[in-house]
Amino acid sequence: MIPGHGIAYGGDYNPEQWPEEVWHEDVRLMREAGVTMVSVGIFSWALLEPAEGEYDFSRMDRILDLLHENGIAADLATPTAAPPAWFFRAHPEALPVDRDGRGLSYGSRQTFCPSSPAYRTAALRIARAVAERYADHPAVEMWHVHNEYGCHNAECYCEVSAEAFRGWLRAKYENLAALNEAWGTTFWSQWYYDWDEIIPPRATGAVPNPTHQLDWRRFCSDELLSLYKAEREVLRTAAPSIPATTNFMVMYNFDALDYWRWAPELDVVSNDHYLRSTDPESQIDIALSGDLVRSLAGGRPWFLMEHSTGAVNWQPVNRAKTAGELRRNALAHVARGADGIAYFQWRAAKAGAEQWHSAMLPHAGTDSQIWRDVVALGADLKALAEVRGSTGTASVAVVWDWNARWALELPSQPSEQVRYLDQIRSWYEPLWRAGIAVDFVRPDADLSAYRLVLAPSLYLVDEAGAANLTSFAEAGGTLAVGFHSGAVDENSHVRLGGYPGAFRHALGVRTDELFPLLPGESVELSGGGTASLWSERVALAGAEAVTSYTSGPLTGVPAVTRHTHGTGTTWYVATQPDPATLAALLDRIRGEAGVEPVRVTPEGVEAALRRGEDADYLFLINHGDREAEIEVSAEATELLTAKRVLEGSVHVPPGDVVVIREPRSA
Ligand code: GAL
Repeated sequence: MIPGHGIAYGGDYNPEQWPEEVWHEDVRLMREAGVTMVSVGIFSWALLEPAEGEYDFSRMDRILDLLHENGIAADLATPTAAPPAWFFRAHPEALPVDRDGRGLSYGSRQTFCPSSPAYRTAALRIARAVAERYADHPAVEMWHVHNEYGCHNAECYCEVSAEAFRGWLRAKYENLAALNEAWGTTFWSQWYYDWDEIIPPRATGAVPNPTHQLDWRRFCSDELLSLYKAEREVLRTAAPSIPATTNFMVMYNFDALDYWRWAPELDVVSNDHYLRSTDPESQIDIALSGDLVRSLAGGRPWFLMEHSTGAVNWQPVNRAKTAGELRRNALAHVARGADGIAYFQWRAAKAGAEQWHSAMLPHAGTDSQIWRDVVALGADLKALAEVRGSTGTASVAVVWDWNARWALELPSQPSEQVRYLDQIRSWYEPLWRAGIAVDFVRPDADLSAYRLVLAPSLYLVDEAGAANLTSFAEAGGTLAVGFHSGAVDENSHVRLGGYPGAFRHALGVRTDELFPLLPGESVELSGGGTASLWSERVALAGAEAVTSYTSGPLTGVPAVTRHTHGTGTTWYVATQPDPATLAALLDRIRGEAGVEPVRVTPEGVEAALRRGEDADYLFLINHGDREAEIEVSAEATELLTAKRVLEGSVHVPPGDVVVIREPRSA
């Protein structure tokens, strides 16, 4: 449960970077902005523990007291993401080694080997010291464990990591024969006779073994997870009733952790989300990320631990937000289930590597657009207090799996142009535009709440996952599968007899050869659209052709098929249709499956619904440049203005957000 009342509001607070008189101005301005919770101490290790085992808590004591006196809660961090220099001087072996064998130095942050025993000991020591000192401090309402596990050190290729990897493999395979079988090591003379022969997939002359790489990614995710769990145990022992979180990065540029394995270990699921400057429709990325995080949280509310008020500082060019974007972004996360909205960071830094990163209180001070927006957002979030605790309502599930992502993006695939997130987004986008609520699910999830399940490029799937998806269709559901799905098992071994392997029977098709398309190449489809990226020579084995190629080497071959499987329906989308064609197809699929939009809205107006115990909350976000009129219940109230809606419709001006409370629908 997210601490506090209403929607939490705040950001990372790093007062140690400022003289103490500034802290008083900070808390005064926090109150002015309606800030309710800040994350403190994330990078304070060097100040909290000036030498091994010697602590200086005086500054943190004063910070926490000051926050508490001002009614602001603390999400207190274990500072373990940034070990101090003294630690590395004592333990140079804890520094990580990259894939090319290059040893890294300290001098930034998160530069440690996740398998290092010295790091683990030191991290648990400072975590315990912090936990024991502050377990009963009234300001502390949540633990912020570490920071963005794996952001900079998801992989370390040193000898210590190699030994830990071997330990993980022994636990998984028990004997070398099983490992050799799973990895297919008869290929290229890779057979292992001794556990000690196995090393991390370091830079090597040609393509490394795919299963070796896949197990390495699983190991790296698990290795960091074990660090998280160890810290969480320390915190639980000291303060059993304070919930623990760590901030995920469900973002386009991070794929190192299998968050399905992590999420159940968190008391509160939280996420960091930043916009990609080059994404012209980053609102879709926000929605996708929010839906995924809510799904990781089991449908329960989650915490947006970080996003930015304006530009970040780590992209080639860092775009500022346009008028109204700060508000739309924050409320869009709330619309997808966030009950806490926080930023990196409270006060813009004047020194250090992030001096050009935006903040709630910019370099320019309070006479600034960002500050005015931050204060206004505080008032908006206060007005949305009753939304807290409400959940999503999706009847469509999109299958998302980190193992499938890792395997699909291994080298030596039929096409390196096929990227997992691109596939997910290309299917998600038309659903977003149509106002269709979506959850994300693991392949083996309980699907009974859904009418329609979509599996874009689910390249790797194990037997249990595949059987779960196909039995969903057999029992009356609708399953739509994207190209290059079901191709390999959990060891990344190809399923024989034709593609798409695990789904062939349920889809009523059989492909004997893949025909990926070159960059820029496209082929025509019956019905008028075009397709790019991928094609296959699909033969019908019970299914009907919905669309076929009308140009190129596969002229006459089905590109999209439909099949009756059991009492349900299956679709195979064996190519990448152009966006309009894919949108029309998904519209038909979801129409036949009886899936309705949350609300029909004009183009550019996002609609998302949260369901409370007594009411529905409809979020309408106008990303377009025209005022929109949208039908709502005659009983509706607009929460941000606290006005009753008259005549059963609302007007949403361009760039604006409207949140409607309606009587709960069935
Ligand atoms: C996150 C990190 C923050 C800050 C932020 C800048 O990755 O957790 O500490 O660096 O990025 O965008």
